[in-house]
Amino acid sequence: MVFPPRVSVVEVGPRDGLQNEPARIATADKIAYVNALSRGGAPVIEVTAFVSPKWIPQLADADDVYRGITRREGTRYTALVPNLAGLSRAETAGATEVAIFASASETFSRRNINQSIEESLETYRGVCARARENGMRVRAYLSTAFGCPFEGDVPAARVATIADALIAMGAFEVAVSDTIGSAHPGQVPRIIEAVGAHVPVNRIALHFHDTRGTALANVLAALDLGVTTFDASAGGLGGCPYAPGAAGNLATEDLIYMLDGLGVETGITLEAVVEASRFMESRVGHALPSRYLQAVG
Ligand code: HMG
Ligand code: MG
Repeated sequence: MVFPPRVSVVEVGPRDGLQNEPARIATADKIAYVNALSRGGAPVIEVTAFVSPKWIPQLADADDVYRGITRREGTRYTALVPNLAGLSRAETAGATEVAIFASASETFSRRNINQSIEESLETYRGVCARARENGMRVRAYLSTAFGCPFEGDVPAARVATIADALIAMGAFEVAVSDTIGSAHPGQVPRIIEAVGAHVPVNRIALHFHDTRGTALANVLAALDLGVTTFDASAGGLGGCPYAPGAAGNLATEDLIYMLDGLGVETGITLEAVVEASRFMESRVGHALPSRYLQAVG
């Protein structure tokens, strides 16, 4: 295998990680967590989600968190927005980049954002148009691309069509997402090839949850196909309250350890991620699943 010299890691712990934690985390602690990840050199941090507080009470303080962080030069800060109301909140908080999140399966789309896929694409066209008018960058997620917790298999052709639609409406990148952590290295090339027929590979990112322990192997398979952007969460925090059975994201520490070993640069300092994870571990009140974190004790 030939590896790229550099990979871009999108840190999603403060959003994907904390949206699913039962413990109430103080706003100041969320801010401290983001700041610690910034100091560690993260090139992109998803800080929070400007979603309905009724749907995700854990991130109801999104506005205060986003406004409270210390922005480091060299780090981009992003946040989820489900609609124009979320975009307005992001604008008011000073965001210059946001992320929309569609699904490749109807049932998950309905459960997660209370809209059909087509309705959500219409919503997101409006979000993209206004964000871009205001000079903001928009990233897009495509959930259940490797399988749906309610419908099971999802056709690769459908994943490709929706990924194409998200790029066509103005997203700079589509994070093809394994919402429930069922993807494996046999499946990854099939999905990347299907999406890659419509979307250039440098605009494809991958977002793996690690429910079955295949996330790192999936990254390796995807590196071989030219993908160079991967999402991860410090400590392996994560999961979606609307995706039953999903474990945390691929842990940033585990990913950085592997990439460091392969000589692939990320700009992220492993020790700094460990420090951020230790801090959040003390706040969520349970051990975090990152294997590297457990190994260093
Ligand atoms: P709805 O109930 O259909 O919408 O929710 P609504 O327009 O009727 O609004 C309901 C209430 O929420 C209203 O308030 C709105 O004003 C308010 P009320 O009148 O009842 O007092 N509201 C908002 N408030 C603040 N910010 C907003 C906002 N929008 C409406 N932006 C909606 C539809 C999309 C809003 C809701 O379903 C929602 O917020 N869903 C988000 C669910 C979510 O965040 N899921 C987790 C993230 S996705 C994920 O984890 C997957 C990912 O990691 C990739 C992967 O792994 O697959 C990205
Ligand atoms: Mg996720």
